Amino acid sequence: PTYRVGYFVGSLSSTSINRVLSKALINLAPPDLEFTEIPIGSLPLYSQDYDDDYPPEAMELKEAIGRSDAVLFVTPEYNRSIPGALKNAIDWASRPWGQNSFDHIPAAVIGASVGSIGTAVAQQSLRAVLSFCNARQMTAPEAYIQFSPEVFRDDGSVAKESTEAFLTEFMREFRVHIERVLTVLPRQ
Ligand code: FNR
Repeated sequence: PTYRVGYFVGSLSSTSINRVLSKALINLAPPDLEFTEIPIGSLPLYSQDYDDDYPPEAMELKEAIGRSDAVLFVTPEYNRSIPGALKNAIDWASRPWGQNSFDHIPAAVIGASVGSIGTAVAQQSLRAVLSFCNARQMTAPEAYIQFSPEVFRDDGSVAKESTEAFLTEFMREFRVHIERVLTVLPRQ
C-alpha cells in the first residue's frame, strides 16, 4: 500500500532550514510514502471559545490530518521548546474534546538547528505533547540534525554521504513504524 504522510514544518520562516530538511527527507523516503504538507501559518490563536464553531482554517487542519495515515513533525527549537505556531496547531487539532485528530496516529519527530544540540530539547518537549495527544510515536531512531548549508542544499539534496544514509534509514524505519501501527490500529 501507499501511506499518506502529512508533515508539519514548525517554522514560519521564509528561509527555514527545517523546510530544507523536510525536502531532503521527502527525497530520501521510501517511494510508497506520499507527502502532503499540513500548513499551520494562517491558524488563529486557539481558544476554547471556538469549540462549538471551528473556523475554516482549523477545519482544514483537522481534515488534512484525517486524510493522513501518519504525521511527521520537522521542527526548529525555540527557547528549548517548540515554536508557538506549532503548539497552536497541535492544540487546534487536539480539540474539540472527544475529537482529537492525533488519537492513535503514527507519528515521527525530527528537527534541525544551527546549534549542536540539534533540537533535542524541543523534540523532548514535543514528544511529551504528542504522548498526551495519544499519538503512536516512533521512539527510535532519534534524529537531532545540526544544519549546515554545505550539507543540505536548497533543492533537498544532501551533500554528505553519512547524513544521507542516516536520513534514509530514519525514513525507512518510519515506514516500518507506520505499517506496524496501522496493522493493529487501522485508520478509518
Ligand atoms: C532560536 N534558535 C534556537 N536554536 C536552538 O538550537 N535552540 C534554541 O532554543 C533556539 N531558540 C531560538 C529562539 C528563537 C525565537 C529563534 C528565532 C531562534 C535558533 C534556530 O535554531 C535557528 O533560528 C533556526 O534557523 C530555526 O529554524 P528554521 O526557522 O530556520 O527552520
